[in-house]
Amino acid sequence: MGTKMSDVIGVVGAGTMGNGIAQVAARAGYNVIMHDVRDEFLDRGLTAIDKSLQRDVDKERLDAESKQAIIGRIRRTTDFAAFKEATFVVEAVTEDLGVKTQVFKTLDQVTPPHAILASNTSSISITKLAAATKRPDKVIGMHFMNPVPVMKLVEVIRGMATSDETYARVRSLTEQLGKVALDCQDSPGFVANRVLMPMINEAIFALYEGVASRESIDGIMKLGMNHPMGPLTLADFIGLDVCLAIMNVLYEGLGDPKYRPCPLLKRYVDAGWLGRKSGRGFYEY
Ligand code: 3HC
Repeated sequence: MGTKMSDVIGVVGAGTMGNGIAQVAARAGYNVIMHDVRDEFLDRGLTAIDKSLQRDVDKERLDAESKQAIIGRIRRTTDFAAFKEATFVVEAVTEDLGVKTQVFKTLDQVTPPHAILASNTSSISITKLAAATKRPDKVIGMHFMNPVPVMKLVEVIRGMATSDETYARVRSLTEQLGKVALDCQDSPGFVANRVLMPMINEAIFALYEGVASRESIDGIMKLGMNHPMGPLTLADFIGLDVCLAIMNVLYEGLGDPKYRPCPLLKRYVDAGWLGRKSGRGFYEY
């Protein structure tokens, strides 16, 4: 029931989460197939992996040869047909139900029937994604945290039909990747984002209402709560579009006005101020 090193791990999406997942899988010794829709996205993903591994080379925790071997285990492709060899696929595309549903339909057609299809969704229903396939028993949520090479947690989410065997294989894979699997039910935002995002949203309300400056809000939470980053810095790090999408999932899915996204968050996203990745969010980069 466990994972085998002969497993080939597919990763759909070479963005922040996708390239992080590809990196940890290759570092754990797996052969990886990383997919994105354009070569330039794949190049960008690989550059991020190179940079992240180089940190460990610089700190003499990894030798240059091993770094090259890790990178060599990551095959890049823009063709979904390459997943015919995959035994596990982790989807990490944009946080949009329509896009993810399409990816799951395609994966269901191209992967071998025994392959497990996991989603790195931060808040979309696993049961809904599973319903797009003819193998809902093999669909599961594997929610990694950013930055993937550093953060230990994988939130494991079972959909309505996820089998015990799928769950056991995913727990075993998570351990092989050097991460800790913690379970939760398929409920909007799961646990991580149900707790984290309202805190971030509240910090944005505090800024919006002029309760304190961005530096004070972040400093208060860093120094007062021992958080590694203040909530506004963390929002910029995660991406304000991602934060807004998750707040909307909580708001619509749980139907409680306490999850109302702050108007300032919406305004920043409308302006294209998405945080670190766009050069401007609550701070300038
Ligand atoms: N790749 C590899 N290693 C990295 C890295 C990366 N991208 N980013 C940081 N690191 C390593 C550094 O090499 C360093 O390693 P060392 O201590 O062993 O030498 C260590 O992480 C600390 O990094 P830095 O000294 O550069 O910087 P910080 O001490 O400020 O740490 C941080 C950076 C780890 C990002 C820390 O600020 C942090 O933990 N922030 C909070 C992150 C967080 O909350 N993530 C969850 C976001 S929510 C989410 O992902 C869910 C989604 O659904 C929205």
